[in-house]
Amino acid sequence: MHIAVVNGPNLNLLGVREPDRYGTATLAEIEAAVRSRARALGVEIGWSQSNHEGELVDTLQALRGRADGALVNAAAFTHTSLAIRDAVLAAAVPFVEVHLTNIWGREEERRKSLLADLAVGVVAGFGAASYLLGLEGLVGWLKGEKKAVGIADD
Ligand code: DQA
Repeated sequence: MHIAVVNGPNLNLLGVREPDRYGTATLAEIEAAVRSRARALGVEIGWSQSNHEGELVDTLQALRGRADGALVNAAAFTHTSLAIRDAVLAAAVPFVEVHLTNIWGREEERRKSLLADLAVGVVAGFGAASYLLGLEGLVGWLKGEKKAVGIADD
């Protein structure tokens, strides 16, 4: 199973950027944690980050037919970019939207996501752990294993 993790603008500065809000883990540290959890789950990870909308569109388009699922933190483009919404639709890959912060607890402009209604689920507000929780949820969902997220209703 191949899971692509797609990161948007300014996430390359995690660790130094507003650490009180976003935490002190760097994106490389989050990547290492995600790769380690993915190994335990038996899935492969592709990792990318871009500050450029068009590049993110290219990355998302390229997932079509290649990735089984994706974790997407489109950062500020979450709230503004119809192009990224369209690319996610075109890719037709199940994805979980992740955010370090709880976007619904922040400024008005950040309280809407142009991606959330397309997502399998959204994980927001747990800092770097949002990525790990998103990965667990997505892999469990892809495997059709409700138990994978610790709740079995059958
Ligand atoms: C973010 C939330 C966005 O509003 C913000 O623009 C980011 C990071 C998050 O992970 O909390 O850059 O996506």
